[in-house]
Amino acid sequence: MIKLKGLEKMSKAQRLAYTKLLLRSQGGTESHPRAIEANAAAIIMAVVEGLNWAGFYWVVEDELVLGSFQGLPACTRISYGKGVCGSAWKENCSQRVEDVENFPGHIACDSASRSELVIPIRKSGELRGVLDLDSPYLGHFTQQDQVAFEEFVEILEGFLYD
Ligand code: SME
Repeated sequence: MIKLKGLEKMSKAQRLAYTKLLLRSQGGTESHPRAIEANAAAIIMAVVEGLNWAGFYWVVEDELVLGSFQGLPACTRISYGKGVCGSAWKENCSQRVEDVENFPGHIACDSASRSELVIPIRKSGELRGVLDLDSPYLGHFTQQDQVAFEEFVEILEGFLYD
């Protein structure tokens, strides 16, 4: 069990640091990537403010397939190059979208989503999936968020099988 302590007093920077600490601590008690992935989504939603969806899509053949997440039910498959997630895959880099309505091909899973951050997940030099974060606020994600979640994903990558 994960105990969340003192969240209400934490600044945004502290909350971002806390997600990484909690994820790292998962590695001490669990080794299965699926279980760690599931708690990773829950950790983000429990600790970080201003999100309406947090979860994973994983590469399966030529598509991204929905993994663990927290939020409303979402589309289960995303093609290479489609939407924000498919673009992160194709371009092999993080996508920080201020206003999803201005992103060509954005896939609206939850109509409340206004901005989005997608981070590629890699193992052994290959893109394996993405972390997808949605916010109901325009321009919610900052460079600070992007750096923090890239570090979060780096920790997660250490728990994936080769
Ligand atoms: N908006 C994403 C699709 C996934 S949902 O946001 C959960 C996209 O455009 O790729």
